Amino acid sequence: MQSKEDAIKAQGQYVLRNTNLGFLEDRYEGKVRDTYRGKKLRYLITTDRISCFDVVLGAVPFKGQVLNQLAEFWFDKTANLVENHVVACPDPNVMAVREVEILPIEVVVRAYLAGSAWRDYEAGRPISGITLPKGMRKHQRLEQVVVTPSTKAERGLHDEPISESALLERELVSPEIWEEVKEKALKLFSFATEEVASRGLLLVDTKYEFGLLDGKVVLADEIHTLDSSRYWVEDSYSERFHSGQDPQMLDKEPVRQWLIARGFMGQGEPPALPEEYISELSLHYMSAFEKISGQSFLPIVGDSESRIANNIREFEEAFS
Ligand SMILES: Nc1ncnc2c1ncn2[C@@H]1O[C@H](COP(=O)(O)OP(=O)(O)O)[C@@H](O)[C@H]1O
Ligand SMILES: [Mg+2]
Repeated sequence: MQSKEDAIKAQGQYVLRNTNLGFLEDRYEGKVRDTYRGKKLRYLITTDRISCFDVVLGAVPFKGQVLNQLAEFWFDKTANLVENHVVACPDPNVMAVREVEILPIEVVVRAYLAGSAWRDYEAGRPISGITLPKGMRKHQRLEQVVVTPSTKAERGLHDEPISESALLERELVSPEIWEEVKEKALKLFSFATEEVASRGLLLVDTKYEFGLLDGKVVLADEIHTLDSSRYWVEDSYSERFHSGQDPQMLDKEPVRQWLIARGFMGQGEPPALPEEYISELSLHYMSAFEKISGQSFLPIVGDSESRIANNIREFEEAFS
């Protein structure tokens, strides 16, 4: 069998930057995924693009496969807990989903003070309207898990945290739907927290998107992927926290820090990712998949764009 390093080298020429599937409708290019509408379903194609601070930095071999298969893993595990949009995964990079009306909020759930929540706290701002106790430290565990919603920004704009009361006042969602969304988000979060604890990991925070399907609230988008969630290594967390060190991180926070160290925080031109760093990231993503899911990751080398087109075409014909 080919080593992961060999697979990364071989995949260099096929790295999936974008797709152009002329036989589908309504192409939308997000930061990381390309989506299209078929006759009955929507297709979410996870590319190898990597984005940070809402800016696309480049492409990392197999990142798309890792993220899509991680989402597939979690959608599958939680399907009987919360209804979701998945119909099938016709390709390692593709999810065929029911088209839903995405609610205009990002539902963020947090168990630790990290990322933008820490940056807000440090600056003395409440976190989506929630005031945390004084004297907390970076990466500290919260007394209890909190839901900190953000608005879902229009294309090209940054998402903004919003308080629960402002969200209801602006009628982004009805109070009933908000209660239901919160309950579902907390259920998913607590399930995944337990699941990864058995593999020595902490689920730090995550972002969910929900949608309406025939008036029903269903989980959409991605779930517990390395783009939507932070995961830390549990056994070194306490020691590192007490000595003021960052935890060992499986998510893309190290990339954010790599950028910040080079003076980039989302404004202007991002620095180019060197080849070696890209290979390192690729290995990191594959190994994170294995740690989180407890399954081995089998990178599929080859022309992923043609493979994806063929698999979707075949699936679309059989489905409609
Ligand atoms: N079931 C669904 N129906 C319709 N749209 C969806 C569904 N699931 C996810 N989406 C949307 O597909 C897009 C996925 O692409 P992504 O790269 O995440 O884009 P963005 O840069 O807008 O976050 C998002 O806009 C997401 O809201
Ligand atoms: Mg997104």
